[in-house]
Amino acid sequence: MEDTSFAIHPGNKKEMPSQYQDIGNINNFKQEENDVHIICERGYVTIRFYRHDIVRIVMNPFATPSMQSSLALVKQPEDVIPVVQDMQNALTVVSDELKLTIDKYPLRISAYDVNDRPLVIENDKGMAFNEKGKVICFKEMNPDDHFYGFGEKAGFLDKRDEKYTMWNTDVYAPHNPETNALYQSIPYFMTLRDGQAHGIFFDNTFKSVFDMKSKADEYSFSAEGGDIDYYILAGRTPKDVLEQYTDLTGKMPIPPKWALGYHQSRYSYKTEAEVRELADSFIEKGIPLDAIHLDIHYMDGYRVFTFDNDRFPDPKKLVQDLKEKGIRTVPIVDPGVKEDPEYGLYQEGILGDLFCKYLDGRIFFGDVWPGNSAFPDFTNQAVRRWWGQKHQFYTDLGIEGIWNDMNEPAVFNETKTMDVKVMHNNDGDLKTHRELHNVYGLYMGEATYHGMKSLLSGHRPFLLTRAGYAGVQRYAAVWTGDNRSFWEHLSMALPMCMNLGLSGVAFAGPDVGGFAHDSSGELLARWTQFGAFTPYFRNHSALDFARQEPWSFGDKYESIIKKYIELRYKWLPHLYTLFQKTSETGIPVMRPLFMEYPQDENTYNLSDQFMIGSTVIIAPVLKPDTNHRVVYLPKGQWYDYWTDRQYEGGQHWLIEANLDTLPIFIKAGSIVPHGDIKSSANVADQQIKFHIYPSTGEDLSYTLYDDDGETFGYQDGLSIGLDIDCCFEENSVKIDVNKRIDRFQPAWKELLFEIHQLTIANIFYNGSHMNESELTFDNKTNTTTFRIAHR
Ligand code: GLC
Repeated sequence: MEDTSFAIHPGNKKEMPSQYQDIGNINNFKQEENDVHIICERGYVTIRFYRHDIVRIVMNPFATPSMQSSLALVKQPEDVIPVVQDMQNALTVVSDELKLTIDKYPLRISAYDVNDRPLVIENDKGMAFNEKGKVICFKEMNPDDHFYGFGEKAGFLDKRDEKYTMWNTDVYAPHNPETNALYQSIPYFMTLRDGQAHGIFFDNTFKSVFDMKSKADEYSFSAEGGDIDYYILAGRTPKDVLEQYTDLTGKMPIPPKWALGYHQSRYSYKTEAEVRELADSFIEKGIPLDAIHLDIHYMDGYRVFTFDNDRFPDPKKLVQDLKEKGIRTVPIVDPGVKEDPEYGLYQEGILGDLFCKYLDGRIFFGDVWPGNSAFPDFTNQAVRRWWGQKHQFYTDLGIEGIWNDMNEPAVFNETKTMDVKVMHNNDGDLKTHRELHNVYGLYMGEATYHGMKSLLSGHRPFLLTRAGYAGVQRYAAVWTGDNRSFWEHLSMALPMCMNLGLSGVAFAGPDVGGFAHDSSGELLARWTQFGAFTPYFRNHSALDFARQEPWSFGDKYESIIKKYIELRYKWLPHLYTLFQKTSETGIPVMRPLFMEYPQDENTYNLSDQFMIGSTVIIAPVLKPDTNHRVVYLPKGQWYDYWTDRQYEGGQHWLIEANLDTLPIFIKAGSIVPHGDIKSSANVADQQIKFHIYPSTGEDLSYTLYDDDGETFGYQDGLSIGLDIDCCFEENSVKIDVNKRIDRFQPAWKELLFEIHQLTIANIFYNGSHMNESELTFDNKTNTTTFRIAHR
């Protein structure tokens, strides 16, 4: 009804919000190790330190908080015993990094860092609840606050003056700025104020709302039920906040290398013959490809864990033949299990009592692709194990990647999802779907990832998911659902992916070219340029709309699209190095400029360009018929990647960019490694070329990371870390290369060094002077190159 005129019916008055009750004065408190328990007139609060710079605050109106957490949390509290001081009107609770001031009459909690920098200040409304069980927490909003994160949201980068609902929702259309509940719910944000950052993670799985809009000097976060349960992350840089947030909710494992290559999808490649033809076209045209996705038509009547025998007579042979060509097969797996008494999976689910049910024992059935279907109750560990092990069906065929869709869960009905009255078993701790809706997809991800991991005997699984909650990065890459082939949706994908990265989900990307609606050659070319630098890179399009394979719009576009897919492969050594760093630090691969330049206000809402790591700016063209754009370059010197022209930063530049050109800028004083252009990511690089971009008077360094790209051997140290140090002195350059770790032996035959904007110099490599005959000077591009055999 919302999209008809009924939405503005005069009789359609909004329900008055029921009155909130304040938690009231502090009656009593006591400290127990990391915890401080406070009893108020109308509620109970527990404060627990997880680290000196992370504190959790939990409020329950009726009882001492249980301190249970959602599946998002992986962190155990460290040994942090805060110092509590009882003053007349307030308590102070202090760790080495955080200071809480707790007013007693009534209870109000404010957090400062140890330098008394205010982080989170409760205003006169504090924490409250109403008789329907809704909980809310109000904070002061500072005029200089900028907000980021919130997972997958439409709109610009800075979320100040936005109000967001967290409720995993299947939104086929529209994705526009006012569609704020999408497929993922990550109830977390970062505040940037005067160049310093802190974060809040509100770990409440009910439908929640973050309101950074309604009042000029106040923001709030609220939920339909449960506890107020939030963590304050002290920062103080944006990177610190990411490290803290991912310490709580987990780091992303290093993906298999092939998952970082180019993926081709379509709803649907419907037959084995079509899939083979597709793969052959890529090979014939010399366009790199790492994965083909199989959408719902591969199945027998949309029954998961089946193949349609007529259309796919020999899936095992298909998967293996493709793999020999370097192409992986990624089938879609939805949670809905067709109600069909003759279908084995359905029988197992019924006989094993594995499906979601109402309290009175009736199974919940909902309409999805296969028709009437039941849904596994992933909140039970036994169900997750069962579902995970079922993936042997796929791994036996040689499949290593799975695509989870419709796992909000989506249901074709008015509410778009499961009845909120369904009672999840939750390993005996019964909870309604109203409470666990937002984590259903995360539980499915856990089941699938762990199942695949146990079946793949040491190989890294790849999982792509549409729905998720905080912590989803531990299991899956995320694509941003059913976007459209609109230029507006191309633009929107930049801040959306940046904010996903800021929410811990570093491995994300949109459907390149747009899912629904008809793409065009120009849009696909521009979108592929952008996609070449998004962490996840998949072209996907929907049934009945224009085909979107790289060659679909003729030679002119094909050659540009091919060039940028190839560019992705050239950049893989750098991207892989960044992914490895993310797996250790949580700092995203694709990041907004403010992450590197938090003092620079020009970056705070810069939504149309982004960085890869800390040294590369990507500024895609986001409009049709446009051969230029404005690019903001922060303070410093920048090189145009294509022409080597140098630009002075701290200003906006008008950059020419014909259809063949994606504007890329490299910070002076950095090193970027390139690998070979190859047919797929697992083909070993024979040569690594280090592009060195000097900056006057600066020494440069880079550590290249590599490993076998497909097993978990890296966790036992089977990797290589190659340190490149570059020291510029008057008329000489010293380059030193050292293996920091070398338990993995890469296939590289040679290392190439290309020093930009340098033509006459003495070059020393690991202490020895290079003969002039070993150097190549290029006067046209102003570069000096030399090569070293690698053993
Ligand atoms: C959903 C997915 C889309 C997929 C389609 C059919 O709309 O978001 O990617 O192609 O279902 O499975």
